[in-house]
Amino acid sequence: QTGYITLDSGYKNTGATESAITFLDGEEGILRYRGYPIEQLAEKSSFIEVAYLLIYDKLPTAKELDEFSDRIKRHTLVNEDMRKILDGFPYTAHPMGILSALVSSLTAFYPESLNPNQSKEEVDLSIIRLMAKLSTIAAWSYKNSVGHPVNYPKNKLDYCSNFLHMMFAYPTEEYEINPVVVDALNKLLILHADHEQNCSTSTVRLVGSANASLYSSVSAGISALWGPLHGGANQAVIEMLEAIKADGGDSKKYIEKAKDKNDPFRLMGFGHRVYKNFDPRATIIKKTADEVLTALGINDPILTIAKELEEAALTDPYFVERKLYPNVDFYSGIIYRAIGIPTEMFTVMFALGRLPGWIAQWKEMREAKEPIGRPRQVYTGSTERDYVSISDRS
Ligand code: SDX
Repeated sequence: QTGYITLDSGYKNTGATESAITFLDGEEGILRYRGYPIEQLAEKSSFIEVAYLLIYDKLPTAKELDEFSDRIKRHTLVNEDMRKILDGFPYTAHPMGILSALVSSLTAFYPESLNPNQSKEEVDLSIIRLMAKLSTIAAWSYKNSVGHPVNYPKNKLDYCSNFLHMMFAYPTEEYEINPVVVDALNKLLILHADHEQNCSTSTVRLVGSANASLYSSVSAGISALWGPLHGGANQAVIEMLEAIKADGGDSKKYIEKAKDKNDPFRLMGFGHRVYKNFDPRATIIKKTADEVLTALGINDPILTIAKELEEAALTDPYFVERKLYPNVDFYSGIIYRAIGIPTEMFTVMFALGRLPGWIAQWKEMREAKEPIGRPRQVYTGSTERDYVSISDRS
């Protein structure tokens, strides 16, 4: 091999690309989408407006936002044959597996998306279709897991209300839209919308760099996000908090387990590859969790356990030395639970939020005509040796 190969497993110190989409500073706990601080966007914007900002690099005018929102609404229906694919999944199927399968199946229903030389308008239509259909697919994956009939989107509803309707309405009764819930969902989706070159986004860019379609690239990103060390952590956090509660609620015992090198147990929702200070999203989500539970009159004992864990981790030398602060996944599950989202749907909610980020990053990579991603390695295997016929082998 010519030249030096610098080994950087986990790409801890590798800049894989140049990007103008999201800026984060791990030391200062700064996160901005296209230059706008997420604190302001979470407070003042909507998820669909943030999606527009990420994808088209500008805050839309009222007219642009209405057009974007209406275009999405007109594509929320999925091909009826998708129900046949959905029906093939047992009700025990994890919704993330259904999500990646159905997103990949969009390449079958829209084969033109496979053309790497689509016009700008055609790429834009592919983007609108995916933004619109993922919420329907997500809600349908939930309905499949509970054996209930799917709901069709209602175009008179805004994006978040429509998703909640598709998740929780029944043929027997409408879902009553609660503004507190809609506001909390908007905030959560905004806070998940992009996060520069995290594992799933890097996957979307790498798959897309081979000229694979947007749908195939995002389907791969969904699979990467499913990992419990990544987006799957929000489900793992609630399962961890439930286990601590079931085991008597002794958070100190679990802090010690997390520190024990011989114990594989990790405090899920703590630590981050980049944020070596607090995760600014966790700060906002923690505040929102308090607001939502109060507004909905919910007293959730696992929130108390979560706060005890956070308190202990912020003072325990093991966590302080390793700068292990609560991350975006630590409190998000408590809000999802409060608004009725079941635990196995938490990572699907992460995917719904992260979609505009994946789309923006895939579009940026394609427009920059980036070369196919193909890292090298440091070889540690056998030196050259000759073939041995099977009769001479031991
Ligand atoms: C997300 O990249 C992104 O931006 C991701 C994300 C996004 O928006 O896309 O922010 C979303 O994925 C948030 C992270 C969700 N994952 C979890 O909450 C799972 C628990 N946390 C981790 O496993 C871990 O902290 C990572 C995966 C998040 C980061 O891993 P790193 O950077 O590779 O750090 P590491 O595993 O090398 O840990 C460093 C040290 C180790 O101890 P030592 O070997 O140095 O003694 O900290 C320890 C680890 O054992 N450690 C933990 C811990 N996380 C790290 N110990 C106990 N509990 C934990 N949660």
